[in-house]
Amino acid sequence: MANANQLKALVKSHADGDDTRFYSVALQVAAGAARSGQAHFAQDLRDLIDELRKNSEQGASKRGGPVPVAQPRGDLAGLLSVSYPSTRMADLVLDPEVRASLDRVIVEQRQHDRLRAKGFRPLRRVLLTGPPGTGKTMSASALAGELRLPLFVIRLDGLITKFMGETAAKLRLVFDALAETRGVYLFDEVDALGGERGRDNDVGEIRRVLNSFLQFLEQDQSDSLLVAATNHPQLLDRAMFRRFDAVIDYPLPTAPIARDVIRNRLAGVRLGRVTWTQIDKAAVGLSHGEITLAAERAAKDTILAEDESVGTGRLVAALSERHSRTNS
Ligand SMILES: Nc1ncnc2c1ncn2[C@@H]1O[C@H](COP(=O)(O)OP(=O)(O)OP(=O)(O)O)[C@@H](O)[C@H]1O
Ligand SMILES: [Mg+2]
Repeated sequence: MANANQLKALVKSHADGDDTRFYSVALQVAAGAARSGQAHFAQDLRDLIDELRKNSEQGASKRGGPVPVAQPRGDLAGLLSVSYPSTRMADLVLDPEVRASLDRVIVEQRQHDRLRAKGFRPLRRVLLTGPPGTGKTMSASALAGELRLPLFVIRLDGLITKFMGETAAKLRLVFDALAETRGVYLFDEVDALGGERGRDNDVGEIRRVLNSFLQFLEQDQSDSLLVAATNHPQLLDRAMFRRFDAVIDYPLPTAPIARDVIRNRLAGVRLGRVTWTQIDKAAVGLSHGEITLAAERAAKDTILAEDESVGTGRLVAALSERHSRTNS
């Protein structure tokens, strides 16, 4: 039988999560038992160890290492692209209201089992609206990152043009996937279903797709989180808004938010004693994305010029350059 030291080693290696040591001590116990004539017990113990080891190796390969990416195959390939984002909420600089709404989604999604056990559903269909570059797509990545779920991206405009005439059928495949594989499903550019944009698009086709989309949204009982994004909410059918549990509106950054976007992006380089009021002025009207690009430009200019720190002049120049691009 196990002696006191062996027992201690077993308990300790278990607490440390040291499987190798745990099984090696257990095998010593089995060997000891065999020596003292307990052949039956020794054999049982060895068999048990073999079995547990095999299971834990399979479990470890499931948990550890790179997450196996379930690549959409067959008909689904070309409809969805999948990734496992490492983006976190802390990477985003957000309006407090937007942050609070996203945090709420995360809390409810994390506890979806508890809510469901009492007959409630977590928030799981959210619509993100706002100008380009305010962080809608990035938020979908951060939701997936925080919830450790795969992110599936569906581009509706692509879906419609690519599968003219059979989009509604393709959409069904996407919603089947939603039910089958829990994940964050981002329907980007959902305004493609608005119809009014439809230059060469067949309006009848779009109407059909919109109706199926609304129907699928309503019928969806999956555990997946569905995120739709648009920068043209005015193009969306009113019926669409009702299908979402939350509509989150992304505003352009205020001055304090713009400052944080710059600080965030320049976290790895030295920021001089800058005159923020001048920077605030230069950043007005720019999106988070544009401010990020301007901060990157100023940082690179600083590094290439071998200057000590990023200063007001470079930041203002880069922000102004963004303005002239946007207006041109
Ligand atoms: N709120 C934010 N905080 C920090 N960085 C941001 C934020 N919003 C945008 N960015 C930066 O801008 C880039 C583009 O943002 P993103 O693609 O999320 O914008 P979007 O709102 O989806 O725009 P579009 O409507 O054009 O799709 C991001 O990769 C990131 O570098
Ligand atoms: Mg986007």
